[in-house]
Amino acid sequence: MTHTAHSHSHDAEPMTDFSRASWEAKYREREALWSGQPNAPLVDEVENLAPASALEVGCGEGADAVWLATQGWQVTGVDLSATALARAQVHAEASGVSSHVTFTDRELSAVIADHGPWELVTSMYTHPGEGGRWLVETLAAAVAPGGRLLVVGHHPTDPHAAEHPDLARSAFAAEDVADVLDRSEWEVSASIRERVTMVEAGHERLWRDAVLVARRH
Ligand SMILES: C[S@@+](CC[C@H](N)C(=O)[O-])C[C@H]1O[C@@H](n2cnc3c(N)ncnc32)[C@H](O)[C@@H]1O
Repeated sequence: MTHTAHSHSHDAEPMTDFSRASWEAKYREREALWSGQPNAPLVDEVENLAPASALEVGCGEGADAVWLATQGWQVTGVDLSATALARAQVHAEASGVSSHVTFTDRELSAVIADHGPWELVTSMYTHPGEGGRWLVETLAAAVAPGGRLLVVGHHPTDPHAAEHPDLARSAFAAEDVADVLDRSEWEVSASIRERVTMVEAGHERLWRDAVLVARRH
């Protein structure tokens, strides 16, 4: 994404429209952008919770939303890319959980206003143009009392993020984005999570994730 170009424009479309076109083009370039497997931090944080309703923001091709649905969650998946969401729908149908997931490319704030709140609100590596603090603030408003917010992104010291200018710009530390949460209302855990995966060429990749888990009183 070329955020810089956007920020120089005086008469620009909203950031989300810009990001929408950019993500849509990225998905169209490839048959599949992601692995189809759920993200490890999501599985770790959620697998022992009793399923209820969940909002997943930046759900992409739907691997996490489908995994949540197979665990019994009733999921609303939001993404900017219609192409990604069409793939997510196919994935849900093939997994036999389409009655447990609804995908939408509507504007996040409208979805929250019309359908919130949810017991679980989650977002994995979304890195919206509006920034991590905006994301946490927006998603916090969608969490039901007693519910949970889980936001994971690339930490600024993640080697992969550091090599990609767009990611380097949007990477965040969990404690920084957690700042927007009122601690009298939220119990907050902000951490760095490291893991190593094999990449295609047989090389290992180190991930340094920023992990924010917040429980609403
Ligand atoms: C790096 S991908 C991650 C996809 C998926 N969560 C995963 O981990 O495989 C980021 C996704 O967030 C979506 N996205 C970015 N900004 C968004 C916003 N403001 N509202 C909804 N989705 C957004 C993009 O369209 C893209 O599919």
